[in-house]
Amino acid sequence: MTASSTFNTNFKQYLASTKVKGDAIPAGLQELLLAVADTCSTLSHEVAQGALIGLLGSAGTGNVQGEVQQKLDVIANDLLIDGVQACQSLAGLASEEMELPLPVQGTGDYLLLFDPLDGSSNIDVNVSIGTIFSVLKKQDPAAPLQTADFLLSGRHQVAAGYVVYGPQTTMALTLGDGVVMFTLNKVTGEFVLIKHAVEIAHSTKEFAINMSNMRHWAEPVRRYVDECLAGVSGERDKDFNMRWIASMVADVHRVLSRGGIFMYPWDQREPHKPGKLRLMYEANPMSFLVEQAGGASTNGDQLIMDMIPTELHERVSVMLGSKEEIERLQRYHSQA
Ligand code: AHG
Ligand code: MN
Ligand code: MN
Repeated sequence: MTASSTFNTNFKQYLASTKVKGDAIPAGLQELLLAVADTCSTLSHEVAQGALIGLLGSAGTGNVQGEVQQKLDVIANDLLIDGVQACQSLAGLASEEMELPLPVQGTGDYLLLFDPLDGSSNIDVNVSIGTIFSVLKKQDPAAPLQTADFLLSGRHQVAAGYVVYGPQTTMALTLGDGVVMFTLNKVTGEFVLIKHAVEIAHSTKEFAINMSNMRHWAEPVRRYVDECLAGVSGERDKDFNMRWIASMVADVHRVLSRGGIFMYPWDQREPHKPGKLRLMYEANPMSFLVEQAGGASTNGDQLIMDMIPTELHERVSVMLGSKEEIERLQRYHSQA
């Protein structure tokens, strides 16, 4: 089999030649995104080695979220820090795995947030995992870096994306003017453009949720899923299919690729927490991608992109994907 000659734009060329709403991508943002992509290319190579390089298993440490860290959570975090901290355009970074943001030496004003390794429970069982990233701009470039600099709504993102380490390593990216996808050529180490103008179909017959939490859900979510399960014999008049990979990156990649919805809603297990997923480096970047692909993303009460964060590691209830289904879920929440 030979590679198709239609796939001939690499990530660097894409960034250099693309206009976002008529403007070239700022050189500093190109520098930062290339550094993220290069690091993810390295990480993809490491992920593929798994046990051969001692990558599997627990690190024996915990993070600020109270979660046990896997070795790869720590390795991915370190790789990303090393990969981007020399970027002149970067003012600071924040990660799921670090309590506080890290100032960097750059003179620029970009802020990078990331979930270095998403889907930690899937590492040791060889199921798709990923990296999620979000780029903001520091509002006051001259002031010393503080956590508050990161607490901007998702609407302030200038770029967001993820890299899924699956059978292929694929990156989805938005710069606020649609969504594009690149697949890693593992021979050259370059990401190559495979899709542009990615669109999520407005209607779907596929939903993703961890059904084992059903008894803990709030009534609107239970109503929605009950109706999906009733299929042709119920309210919805069609049969639904269900998927749950337990890596948000892989579940959202499916939604961007063939439609559907993904939910990790609030539930009663820890009622004081708004949800399991984190707003700044999971929900916001995914919501930006989904909106840019014509879908929608809500916490039930408001669009996730409109939420004003109050904490770096804030959690949020997430429902995103095909527009008609998200609107239905919003309706059920407002009726409850
Ligand atoms: P992380 O590995 O970064 O902590 O995120 C895992 C998240 C998300 O990727 C996934 O959708 C969800 O946790 C799975 O949770 P359950 O194991 O509760 O299904
Ligand atoms: Mn995650
Ligand atoms: Mn993670």
